Amino acid sequence: MSLILGIETSCDECSASVVRYDANEIEVLSVSTFSQIALHQPYGGVVPEIASRNHLETVNPMIEAALAEANVRVQDLDAIAVTNRPGLVGALLVGVSAGKALAYAAKKPLVPVHHLEGHAASIYLRSKDRPPLDRNAFPLPMLLAIVSGGHTNLHAVKAPPELWPKNFLKRSLVGRSRDDAAGEAFDKTAKTLGFAYPGGKYIDEYAQGAGDPKAFDLPRALPQKATLDFSFSGLKTAVAIEAEKLRKSGELEARLPDLCASIQEAIVDALMAKMTLAVREHGCRTLALVGGVAANSRLRHRLDTEWKKMGLAEKPRFPEMKYCTDNAAMIAAAGAFRFRQNQYLKPDEMLSLSAIAYPET
Ligand code: KG4
Ligand code: ZN
Repeated sequence: MSLILGIETSCDECSASVVRYDANEIEVLSVSTFSQIALHQPYGGVVPEIASRNHLETVNPMIEAALAEANVRVQDLDAIAVTNRPGLVGALLVGVSAGKALAYAAKKPLVPVHHLEGHAASIYLRSKDRPPLDRNAFPLPMLLAIVSGGHTNLHAVKAPPELWPKNFLKRSLVGRSRDDAAGEAFDKTAKTLGFAYPGGKYIDEYAQGAGDPKAFDLPRALPQKATLDFSFSGLKTAVAIEAEKLRKSGELEARLPDLCASIQEAIVDALMAKMTLAVREHGCRTLALVGGVAANSRLRHRLDTEWKKMGLAEKPRFPEMKYCTDNAAMIAAAGAFRFRQNQYLKPDEMLSLSAIAYPET
């Protein structure tokens, strides 16, 4: 059994969490998150300078709250895990500095974590009030779809998390977006329609009512069979043209549910098509969907109803809703897996750890 503190400040969520790792499962003892969404909303996107300044104010209170809620003292921790890549460099630096200071002072191992490995680890997290979740019961190979505001990656995962190789993300990558990420496509089209940032959830909400997903004929990029890559930039332009037409004729408001449902369907169709192809090409028995867009109700519904047709041996897995968007519990879990592989920094090594905006892997 190990107790791991996770720290996450790569973008606009400042989060700390304590998890309990054992041979079968990872239980989340606490998560404290301060979301900066309201601070960035007036600007229509994340302002890096505002993000890092705010992390400075909130990182220590988040750590203190997570330790208090878990009823764990710093001395009780086995390791401290911190996101050090990729992300906004100034924002990352705040978490990295806090993690280093705490680990150095308390003489605890420090585990640098790749943010996307955190998202990958989120499917293994179990909240205290949930039934046991045995991570050894995940059949492999597994198609891991990391679908967030910054990434749309498909990974063919062949090893359990304790055996993920060092460059696991790079080695397992089989498809990715060539331009905008799926979450970015949601957010940018939502902005065109006048929704606040980040608009993915508003598109989801508006589409859920009476929205007709076939009302507007929007492009599905790279439909040819040969590639597992995505492209979402054409959709953005098509939606901008459509919205302008509707605005001129005064119909935009009335047609919003139809337009939102059509946008959502275009993104979900592209994800479903490439995930199906990847499952077949890489002989995957199961599929895990992680990242902010895993919260999308239409995508979850289609995976829930079409998984057999896709060739999967069992129902796809999603993290609990609260672990889809950025949080430190997933960072603590990914840190626990690396800690088990003895991949951590000792006090005499940790002071040189830096934040990396664009890592190679
Ligand atoms: O994983 P995440 O919190 O941050 C990144 O690492 O990027 O993902 C945020 C993304 C945003 O683009 C947001 O609009 C999208 O997840 N998102 C959704 C939904 N909830 C969050 N997109 C579609 N439908 C949703 N329900
Ligand atoms: Zn993320």
